[in-house]
Amino acid sequence: MTNAYKIAVLPGDAIGPEIMAQAVRVFDVLQKKRDVSFELTTAPFGAHAYFDEGKAFPDSTKAVCDDADAILKGPVGLSHEASKKIPVEEQAERGAILPLRARYNTFANFRPITLSKDMAHFSPLKPEIIQDGIDILLIRELVGGLYFGKKDRGVNDEGERYVHEILEYTEQQIRQVLIVAFEQARKRKKRLHNIHKSNVLMSSVFWNEVLDEVHQDYQDVEVIHLLVDAAATALCLNPGQFDVMVMENMFGDILSDQGGGILGSLGLMPSACIGPDKAYYEPSHGSAPDIAGKNIANPYSMIGSVAMMLEMSFNMETEAAMVWQAMKNVFEAGYSTADLSRSSDDIQLVSTDQFGDKVIETLEALL
Ligand code: IPM
Ligand code: MN
Repeated sequence: MTNAYKIAVLPGDAIGPEIMAQAVRVFDVLQKKRDVSFELTTAPFGAHAYFDEGKAFPDSTKAVCDDADAILKGPVGLSHEASKKIPVEEQAERGAILPLRARYNTFANFRPITLSKDMAHFSPLKPEIIQDGIDILLIRELVGGLYFGKKDRGVNDEGERYVHEILEYTEQQIRQVLIVAFEQARKRKKRLHNIHKSNVLMSSVFWNEVLDEVHQDYQDVEVIHLLVDAAATALCLNPGQFDVMVMENMFGDILSDQGGGILGSLGLMPSACIGPDKAYYEPSHGSAPDIAGKNIANPYSMIGSVAMMLEMSFNMETEAAMVWQAMKNVFEAGYSTADLSRSSDDIQLVSTDQFGDKVIETLEALL
């Protein structure tokens, strides 16, 4: 019997629709070549949804997502200036992304930071640091911490304005993401870097206590503790020491962008956001309004997010590996999108849709 999957497609803002157009082509090829069918439903989400419908995450889009087996989301948001036209609560980050994460409790955010040996020249790091490439799995807690804690603003008795923004976690929230991280570490090199700030933050002291408890069930996995500030340096000086890293929400937001930095572009950062019943997939980066409409954005992170969906939601590991392979082949053949072009002169620059054409052609041949 043919496997049939429903996918909610949220193209997003700025470069979102451009890179999404390339990513969904992967589903077409798979339908042609494999006994599988995909039903794609596109829905508004983000700033354009607010302008068209008054809501960044409209109810109709919620219904499409509820009904889907998995969600593919493009980047959303506008420039700092343009965002000011939207009330703070309806801006794409607070009005769409965070509610999406909360709705499906997507607590485990997988952010692979990978660069094959043959793509190592894209990295700004020196060859002696990169050596055989980079292969890190950063796991970020995604529905707790400062992002979702209580917040309030006011004026104190002295007439001075203040803000409170609380870093909140329950032990269950910490435990569930640590279990995911230990499971991944067990499947990989049995080494888990726990990133924290227990020399200052009580939340990290608590996190580490829960980690010690969970570790009891994973004694075959070595845990290495590293303070988040030191981890930032280590990612630059010796990324090869890392395999699986786990951390709370805000630390993960920052270090995963640094991950894009050591690869050479945020355009190389796909991600998976996994909840108990549903998962959604998105590039780790923003919507890059400055290059929107120019057909120059790198669709790798969006296509890579499809690969992660195939593997993690549909158990199509072989096909997912072929999507990665296809993109690798295109880069290794000397083609590159503009974001990566500074690294060498003998690169042949391709547009967003040319990159898509080449990936799809290569994938068709591999399948
Ligand atoms: C990310 C983004 C989001 C975050 C923003 C857009 C809300 O930066 O996915 O890393 O901070 O989580
Ligand atoms: Mn971020």
